[in-house]
Amino acid sequence: MASRREVCPASEMTPGVVKGAGRYAVGSADGELFAVTRRCRHLYADLAEGTIDDDGCLTCPWHGSKYDVETGRMVRGPQGVFAKIPGLGLAFKAITLVLPLGRGTVVERGGTIYVE
Ligand code: FES
Repeated sequence: MASRREVCPASEMTPGVVKGAGRYAVGSADGELFAVTRRCRHLYADLAEGTIDDDGCLTCPWHGSKYDVETGRMVRGPQGVFAKIPGLGLAFKAITLVLPLGRGTVVERGGTIYVE
């Protein structure tokens, strides 16, 4: 049986919100709730402190990598000084083709959001 963890009251899960719950970053993007494992594949920043961009991607708070929250794949590599390293972004994107972020299941019960 999958373990279930409480995230927050459903009223707090408004579009663009990201919260941490156990091993997951749980949020709302493009009108859908999502849960992905919360350590960035680059240098392990906490993705629960990230933001949702206009395309509904989860953006890492440290170096701006972006993740597709449906697939768990990195769609843009690390930015800033890391963007100047040839092939680095492509390498990390390739890694997440094989090892995407894990995805959890988000459910609402009785006005509370849970992830399992
Ligand atoms: S730790 Fe996420 S982009 Fe660097």
